[in-house]
Amino acid sequence: MNTYLNGFWSGWVIVLTLVTFVLVTWLLFANRKRTPIDAKTTGHEYDGIEEWDNPLPGWWFAMFVVTIIWGAGYLVAYPGMGNFPGVLGWTQLDQHADEVTTAEEKYRAMRDKYLALPIEEVAKDVKARRMGMRIYGNNCSQCHGLDAAGALGFPNLADADWIYGGSPDVIKQTIVHGRRAAMPAWEAILGEDGIAEATAYVLSLNSRDADPAKVEAGKKHFQTYCVACHGPDGKGNPALGAPNLTNGIWLYGGSEAQIAHSLRIGRNGQMPAFGETLGEDKIHLVTAYIYGLSQQ
Ligand code: HEC
Ligand code: HEC
Repeated sequence: MNTYLNGFWSGWVIVLTLVTFVLVTWLLFANRKRTPIDAKTTGHEYDGIEEWDNPLPGWWFAMFVVTIIWGAGYLVAYPGMGNFPGVLGWTQLDQHADEVTTAEEKYRAMRDKYLALPIEEVAKDVKARRMGMRIYGNNCSQCHGLDAAGALGFPNLADADWIYGGSPDVIKQTIVHGRRAAMPAWEAILGEDGIAEATAYVLSLNSRDADPAKVEAGKKHFQTYCVACHGPDGKGNPALGAPNLTNGIWLYGGSEAQIAHSLRIGRNGQMPAFGETLGEDKIHLVTAYIYGLSQQ
């Protein structure tokens, strides 16, 4: 048995409960009147309405007695008297565990059915997607948004653009193992001028206005420092989680100042791993949900 109260507080609760029982019972019987004192009023009268001093109706009195007996019975059967567990041995923890087990059994069969199907098919099943959506809502929406459209630093999962890849297998891998992006900080290496030049080059990759001289200088930085991860044409590398820098989709914002800031301080986005917490069957469903969003 778990005890939640130390000896003193347990005793305190028991004493308070017992004293209350005795007081309530005494109050009921001590104030009981057996015979009607006809024509006697309490003396209170308002607008011709008098308050009479008659005994409680018998059924009413009996009801009080029944509640007292019921209360005593309850405290013998169930926890309530300090740390006394009750003779039935019921606990809310056991009841909760039972309910969880029942729910697990009920849903496991359904989740196992989907686990046996390929993600592409699960994604087409309306019921499975609804289950996936619920798992998403409980575990992912705080970062990626209720509609999965993402936010600054948290990628949009509802579009067809992927940092790590959008095939069912890769999405699943992302969710099971998590991801940790490693983009170094460039301030110390490039200096403030170099940052401005590299930023100009990134802008030019998106056909945006930038000083041509800076773009030219930035291109050299890019070829020296950036192609290893972002590729010679800046289209990124899913294996490293290095995003495409040419498509106008930005994880950390695409204004000149935001891009320069990304370069200055580096970026280390972290997607937590869910392999342990969710288990295979739930991950299968949530993967199908995410995959389905990108297929619409
Ligand atoms: C070691 C690999 C690596 C190198 C080298 C590298 N990057 Fe990155 N870069 C990344 C990764 C990984 C991310 C994604 C960071 C994240 O998701 O938190 C990133 C993110 C970015 C972003 C933010 C993109 C967005 O969507 O907001 C920009 C801009 C960027 N890099 C530009 C550059 C430039 C310019 C250079 C060269 C000076 C460079 N990177 C060098 C790996 C690299
Ligand atoms: C604590 C915040 C957080 C939570 C919770 C979270 N994610 Fe992420 N997730 C991220 C971040 C940050 C990234 C981007 C990592 C990076 O910068 O490379 C990411 C990346 C991803 C990607 C890769 C996207 C791409 O374009 O390749 C997928 C897929 C993904 N998350 C799915 C999920 C799912 C499904 C859940 C819930 C089971 C979830 N995430 C929960 C923060 C979170």
